[in-house]
Amino acid sequence: MRIAILSGGLNAERDVSLRSGRRVAKALRESMPEAEIIEVDLNGEFLDSLGSATGPKSFDVVLPLIHGVIGEDATLRSLLEIKGIPFVGSSAASAARSFDKGVASGLVPKGSAPKFVAFPQSFFREMGAPRILEAVIAGIELPLVVKPISGGSALGVRLCTEAQQVAPALVDAFGYGDRVMLQSAVNGTELAVTVIDIGGEITALPPVEIVPVSEVYDFDARYTAGATEFFVPSRLSSDVIKRVCDYAVTVHKSLDLRDISRTDLIVDSLGAIWFLEVNIAPGMTETSLVPQAIEAAGLSVGGVFAELVAQAVARSS
Ligand SMILES: Nc1ncnc2c1ncn2[C@@H]1O[C@H](COP(=O)(O)OP(=O)(O)O)[C@@H](O)[C@H]1O
Ligand SMILES: [Mg+2]
Repeated sequence: MRIAILSGGLNAERDVSLRSGRRVAKALRESMPEAEIIEVDLNGEFLDSLGSATGPKSFDVVLPLIHGVIGEDATLRSLLEIKGIPFVGSSAASAARSFDKGVASGLVPKGSAPKFVAFPQSFFREMGAPRILEAVIAGIELPLVVKPISGGSALGVRLCTEAQQVAPALVDAFGYGDRVMLQSAVNGTELAVTVIDIGGEITALPPVEIVPVSEVYDFDARYTAGATEFFVPSRLSSDVIKRVCDYAVTVHKSLDLRDISRTDLIVDSLGAIWFLEVNIAPGMTETSLVPQAIEAAGLSVGGVFAELVAQAVARSS
C-alpha cells in the first residue's frame, strides 16, 4: 500500500507541520514501513506527486498533517476528493466549517461560544478604525481576545485588557490572515480534548489540561519543552471531565467531522464550558496535545494512525 504523509505547507505553521510529519511517520512505520513523507512547498511538486488529472492514482491513501491554510481548510481536501484519493480526516466541506472559528462557533451547542465580532481588513480600513473599535469594545467589553479567524499555534492571538491595546493587536492579527475575530476573553482552565472516531465509535480521549508557565499559551509556550505544564488526566473533577468529553464528542458530530479532531475549550469557575475552536489536523509534535492524550488513553500514536489509515482506505472501497 502506498501511503503519503503530507506535511509542510506554505504558512507560518510550516515547521510545526514538518515536526508533526516526522513524528507520525516514525510511529506509523512500525506497522506500515512503506509510509512516505511528502513535503508540500512552493515548487508545486506535491501536486505532480498526486498524479496527473486523468492518470492512475499515485497513492492509495494520504495522511494530511499540514496545519492552517491549505491543510486545514478545504483546499487540499477538495483536491484529494476530486482526484478520488482517500485521506485520513474530515471532508473538504467539514474542513471549511471548522477552519473558520466564526462559522464553527455558530455550530457548537448554543451559548457555549464566547461572544465575538469578525471582520476583514478592508472593512476596518473603509469604515475607519476608531469608529469600529469604539463600537466593538462597547459591545464585547474588555478583556477581549484578538485573533485571526483562521489562525493556528496561537500566532497573532493577543489578550487585551485595555482599549489602547486593541488597535496594535489587530495589526498583528491581520499579519496572519485577512479576517480577524474579537472575542470576549474567558477566564478559567484550558483543556484540549481529542476525539477519535474509529469503526463508528466516537470516543473522547483524556482531556489535557494546559497551564502555561508564563500565563499565556502562546507560540513559544507551545513549542518550547518545559514552557507549559500539562496535566493528563486533568485535575478537574470527574464530573467536569465527563461533561467536557461529551461536549467534544458533540462538537465532532455537530460539525460532521471524521476520524480525529481536537476541541480547545475553557472551563470557567462555575463549570461552564466555553468553545475556542476545533482542529481537524491537530499538532503531532513532541510537545503537542494529541500525542499526550493518546498515550494517556493507553494507546500509541502509531497504532491510532495505522487504524485511521486503514479506515480511510476502507471508506473508499
Ligand atoms: N476567548 C478567549 N478567552 C481566553 N483565552 C483565549 C480565547 N481565545 C483564545 N484564547 C487563548 O489563545 C490560545 C489560542 O487560541 P485558539 O482560538 O485556540 O487559536 P489557535 O488556532 O491559534 O490555537 C488558546 O489556546 C487560549 O489560550
Ligand atoms: Mg487552539
